[in-house]
Amino acid sequence: MPSDDAQTLSERAESLARDASNETASASDIAALAAVRARWLGKNGEFKALLKSIAKVDAAERPATGARINELAASIEARLAARHAELDAAAADGPPDATFDPTLPGTRRAGGSLHVVTLVLDEIRAIFTRLGFDEVGGPEIEDSWHNFDALNIPAEHPARLPSDNFYVEGGRLLRSQTSTMQIRAMESRKPPLRVFAPGRVYRPDAVDARHLYAFHQVEGLMVGEDVTFADLKACLNTFASSMYGDDVVTRFRPSYFPFTEVSAELDIQCPGCHGREGGPRCPVCGGEGWMEILGCGMVHPNVFRHVGYDPEKYTGFAFGMGVERVAMRRWKLDDVRYLIENDVRFLSQFR
Ligand code: DAH
Repeated sequence: MPSDDAQTLSERAESLARDASNETASASDIAALAAVRARWLGKNGEFKALLKSIAKVDAAERPATGARINELAASIEARLAARHAELDAAAADGPPDATFDPTLPGTRRAGGSLHVVTLVLDEIRAIFTRLGFDEVGGPEIEDSWHNFDALNIPAEHPARLPSDNFYVEGGRLLRSQTSTMQIRAMESRKPPLRVFAPGRVYRPDAVDARHLYAFHQVEGLMVGEDVTFADLKACLNTFASSMYGDDVVTRFRPSYFPFTEVSAELDIQCPGCHGREGGPRCPVCGGEGWMEILGCGMVHPNVFRHVGYDPEKYTGFAFGMGVERVAMRRWKLDDVRYLIENDVRFLSQFR
């Protein structure tokens, strides 16, 4: 240090700062810039040495001199940062990589889509919600009370056979139908009520073009003081036209279920051949002219008795449909296995 004088020390700091500033401006890349910073501001840099020599300055002048040196160091720091940003920007606008051709198509990311069953379930949901039904859900492992007894299915009924059900411990089983939810809904609510219950059901069927051992159903139930078969027809015709189009033709065909009296099945006229029974074999309906959509009926008085509803006071209708079947009708699929094979070529057609 040539002198201990405050004036000289400050002048020397000014001159170092000018040199540092010039070097910063001419640093041509980030590595060069790092070397400049080390040389001027680093642990063994010029400014640290300068600050050490301040001990030799008159005590009265030390604070002002120290402050000035720090100020200059800060201004160098700012210049370094500005130059760093400049170099970064220049690198970004630099000439493009010669191997990069911006006119080539990019790599497309495959977009996901909802599964067909989810899509159709969402449509079913929307329709019954619009008709004032509440969505309810319940367990897939059921007791025989909810799956059979309360639904008026007698002890000796073949629907209870071990060969037709997945029984688990304690006489319980994987539910074979969402009709269980009729009972659960009525056990937990007082009439009047309108509910629908989508969910998975299980049956030990061999898988083929029309059968799966696990599939989806949607159950529906409406109970009140004056609910009639006319309400059932209005509700399910509205469902059919919302799902299959205004021009859909429906028919209610007498049927039998233990938990309804009267019972019916709802068919829609085949959109492929418009019900031309006996005509040339139609690929959509297999020549039947009509396709079954769901089972339905007026709730059996015994079912009301089992849940403590007064059958003299209340009437109601119920229905149950297979969601995979609705989807097959809707998109004219001839094999239910498409729905579980997870073949992206098939699934990506539905969005
Ligand atoms: N649970 C019946 C089945 O799985 C479908 C069904 C028929 C449900 C008539 C109902 C109904 O609610 O009223 O085959």
